[in-house]
Amino acid sequence: MPMSTKRAVGCAFGRLRELGSARMTVQLEDIAWWTLCVMVLTIAFILWKRYAEGGVCYSKNRLEGKTVIVTGSNTGMGKEIAADMASRGARVIMACRSIERGNRAAEDIRRRVQDGTLIVSQLDLGSLKSVRMFCKTFLATESQLDILINNAGVFFCPYMQTEDGYEYHFGVNHLGHFLLTNQLLLLLKKSPKSRVVNVSSFTYAFTSLDFDNLNYKHSYSRMQAYMRSKLANVLFTKELARRAKDSGVDVYCVNPGGVHTDITRYLLPQWSLPVLDPIIWLVIKSPRAGAQTAIYCAVSDEVKGLSGHYFSDCKEKAVGKEGMDEGIAKKLWEVSEKMTGL
Ligand SMILES: NC(=O)c1ccc[n+]([C@@H]2O[C@H](COP(=O)([O-])OP(=O)(O)OC[C@H]3O[C@@H](n4cnc5c(N)ncnc54)[C@H](OP(=O)(O)O)[C@@H]3O)[C@@H](O)[C@H]2O)c1
Repeated sequence: MPMSTKRAVGCAFGRLRELGSARMTVQLEDIAWWTLCVMVLTIAFILWKRYAEGGVCYSKNRLEGKTVIVTGSNTGMGKEIAADMASRGARVIMACRSIERGNRAAEDIRRRVQDGTLIVSQLDLGSLKSVRMFCKTFLATESQLDILINNAGVFFCPYMQTEDGYEYHFGVNHLGHFLLTNQLLLLLKKSPKSRVVNVSSFTYAFTSLDFDNLNYKHSYSRMQAYMRSKLANVLFTKELARRAKDSGVDVYCVNPGGVHTDITRYLLPQWSLPVLDPIIWLVIKSPRAGAQTAIYCAVSDEVKGLSGHYFSDCKEKAVGKEGMDEGIAKKLWEVSEKMTGL
């Protein structure tokens, strides 16, 4: 091969090598860039999710020999609270509207938690008769009650009435729990250092009670009815704490935050759930995370001496002016006594 041809071929090979390594460098830069992006997004996502999950109850207090009632514990936060109480060794009465759903939840919890005892008991908070029956059976069979967690609740229902003719949110979320707690109060007082935890919601702060329209005869708004029932939970906590002062019963009110549970059954149509679920999962708490503040108020040492107070994300929080009025709290108590025939 002539010299000039040899040189030309050598040059061509050299050029190809340069191009190849340049392309390889570009590819490596691309990979490094995308890896960095994925890492940053993953870390941001983990940090966000941890922030959105909110406060955690770190108390390791055990509950062997203690009896706990959790209302509405067949699903959502109630189920997680019941599981936590059992994992601490408690005897847990799962007070559920449906025995069948309650038993299914108890079986599910037993697969996860080996400690404690779970007993499913029927309680429909929309029926004062059912509340009385539940209390009668409980008082006849149990000798102590250390923690009562008033968790069950309904949200955004169309206008409905309880068995006794009261608007459903007010009847279930407030009146049912009001009667339940009062019927069990003597036993709570007899059991040393007992606690009542009322699960409310931050939405209580956006409304006020209208004593002339408690049964919504004049006008009805689903959201207003829910918020008022949650304000009633805050005021009930305040008044019960005042009445039970120095009796050995401490009362706490809890805002779980936004939690991904079945509570939206009347708000979101079933067909929208597959689309909305991943978004909801990203921005709000899991049921276990939502249960943390109620668990914190039920077991932690840090809340001692704070009876009547309001907690959010496992921290005490000031109550807004709507939930502060002692006069309104007393009036609500008296009205509730009449409505429940206490
Ligand atoms: N999820 C949130 O974002 C959020 C935010 C703020 C406050 N909260 C409050 O947290 C509490 C727990 O709600 P969740 O989110 O865990 O809701 P959930 O998953 O819908 O659970 C509600 C529970 O209450 C029970 N319940 C409803 N009506 C009842 C009745 N008449 N008698 C007895 N039990 C009844 C339900 O039983 P069934 O399964 O038989 O219906 C269920 O076990 C509620 O008080 C709610 O207001 C929730």
